[in-house]
Amino acid sequence: MANAEIGVIGGSGFYSFLEDVTEVEVDTPYGKPSDSLFLGEIGGRKVAFLPRHGRGHHLPPHRINYRANLWALRSVGVTQVLGPCAVGGLRAEYGPGTLLVPDQMVDRTKSRTQTFYDGEPLAGGTSQAPGPGGGSVSNVVHVSLADPYCPEGRKAAVAAARGRAWEPVDGGTLVVIEGPRFSTRAESQWHAAMGWSVVGMTGHPEAILARELGLCYTSMTLVTDLDAGAETGEGVSHVDVLKVFAANVDRLRPVLFDAVAGLQASAGRDCLCSHALDGLDTGIQLP
Ligand code: ADE
Repeated sequence: MANAEIGVIGGSGFYSFLEDVTEVEVDTPYGKPSDSLFLGEIGGRKVAFLPRHGRGHHLPPHRINYRANLWALRSVGVTQVLGPCAVGGLRAEYGPGTLLVPDQMVDRTKSRTQTFYDGEPLAGGTSQAPGPGGGSVSNVVHVSLADPYCPEGRKAAVAAARGRAWEPVDGGTLVVIEGPRFSTRAESQWHAAMGWSVVGMTGHPEAILARELGLCYTSMTLVTDLDAGAETGEGVSHVDVLKVFAANVDRLRPVLFDAVAGLQASAGRDCLCSHALDGLDTGIQLP
């Protein structure tokens, strides 16, 4: 059985340069992930890459099967996930090309299934496991998300950027909107006035679903534009976002690879994420 220790959910620009990549199709009780997993090695670490929007970028943020993506990664042995994504800056000083490693997140999405623990038996007919003492347990679990990102993963991401002479913003709040449209100027001004740092469309529910599976999750955001509330022009354009992302992907790839190499070993994990399910009976068989 193919396996990996670290998952990277990002664009194809991140794995297409790896040699000896094995493509593995994975199915889950929640349906198919965005694409196959692409398994390779970086600095001796086994990595599973998953193109978040699918090959050819055919899935908009609100149509991504986030549950299947996280489940698929855990099913091949992943314990830590890096989630690079494009975002808009909410402050004039966070212009295009800024790399920000957030430590907080605000969910402003509307339609996304954001839990594995919805009180129902698993899709596909797996019934709830018997609880302690033989009774049936419910599939209701409340994980803590006070600190949504892995503190150890964040350290590795920040150190990796510094090592490549790309001083990152260490900390800040990522607000995640439903999309696929960008924010109105009033929404964006509100996001900025709340003190939030960057805005994106995919950071949620990735972080919470990772936590629900006891996985570490680290977000690495690349600013591709100033959002409408932080600039005085005509607002964000999709074309500009793609251009800036493409212009920075070659710079981001080595940072991401160094971050992978710098992540703690699975066996030695002792961060809050690794203890997220301690003492809880999830009621479902995790992969
Ligand atoms: N992704 C890249 N730029 C963005 C923006 N301004 N708003 C939301 N998501 C984005």
